[in-house]
Amino acid sequence: MSAPEAIELTGVGQLRHRPRRLRRTSALRRLVREHQLLPSNLVYPLFVRHGQDERRPIASMPGVFQLTIDQLDREADELGQLGIPAVILFGIPAEKDPIGLENFDDNGIVQQALRRLRQSAPDLTLISDVCLCEYTDHGHCGLLNLGDPPPRPHLPPGEVLNDETLELLGRVALSHASAGADVVAPSGMMDGMVAAVRAALDSSAFEHVAILSYAVKYASAFYGPFRHAAESAPQHGDRRSHQMDPANAREALREARLDVEQGADALIVKPALPYLDVLQRVRQAVPDLPLAAYNVSGEYAMLKAAAASGWLDERRAVLEALTSIKRAGADFILTYHAKQAAAWLTEGQPR
Ligand code: PBG
Repeated sequence: MSAPEAIELTGVGQLRHRPRRLRRTSALRRLVREHQLLPSNLVYPLFVRHGQDERRPIASMPGVFQLTIDQLDREADELGQLGIPAVILFGIPAEKDPIGLENFDDNGIVQQALRRLRQSAPDLTLISDVCLCEYTDHGHCGLLNLGDPPPRPHLPPGEVLNDETLELLGRVALSHASAGADVVAPSGMMDGMVAAVRAALDSSAFEHVAILSYAVKYASAFYGPFRHAAESAPQHGDRRSHQMDPANAREALREARLDVEQGADALIVKPALPYLDVLQRVRQAVPDLPLAAYNVSGEYAMLKAAAASGWLDERRAVLEALTSIKRAGADFILTYHAKQAAAWLTEGQPR
């Protein structure tokens, strides 16, 4: 038996460095904590739909609902109480068509929601998602190369067109700004989308509306539940011709830089947890702009499912996951956990 000898070798007086000294008590741990998750770091996504008096549950996202306009005041109140400063709005249109007409209609569902919240919650920051996929009948993020003749005869039929889509994104952003958006968030990964949105806003005296660009957005399986929530799954094909390849990290820096050059005010990396390395690199490459991470629907669904099965402690797991996103470099986080997390954070600090 050599155990007693081993104890003597590393025994009292032998170790100069003992990191455990600073972990002994809750107060010490709080004192040396490097990153702090706050309710003010959180943005809550809202899904709005036509109709009245409805909170329609989303099966794959327990606790998240599609809301009708009349439900928004109550929601905004709750967010105010919790200290959550911002929402990002997604709309489910009444009807879908090839170009997504409701997307830039003054009476579109997002425009109605913006006007309502602008009135009822003047202190809430209103961010609107600017993309085509929830509004088009084909579910793609841009116009398709279809017709006889198609707009681009030298490109394959059905291809998502870039420059033709930019003009539409500008119209959508302008329409959201007119309805009261503080921030517009182009999410379609079209080349030049930030410049197009900036030009459209500036040409109509909306210089003050900020652009939060989904600069680094991957073609991810983790958007699955969102596509149910927003009823926006592509009817055929996928988004790999415009969203990024999950195998690429260097390319994220290029995407980020291009959006900074085009005038983005803040950037998003999306998804969050499977891409913390990317988040950290973008943070380093763009040290001077606010950086956000989108903790997406699939990340939410995984934790909810595991918690519902009793396989992990939801509160601890959620706060740990969100803290890790801040640690990797995000200033703020778009997350479906926002309300619960904010409530937990105000109840008491993680020990
Ligand atoms: C596009 C958009 C998507 C998400 C946010 N904006 C879906 C997509 O690209 O398919 C996904 C968000 C999530 O999964 O939580 N309008």
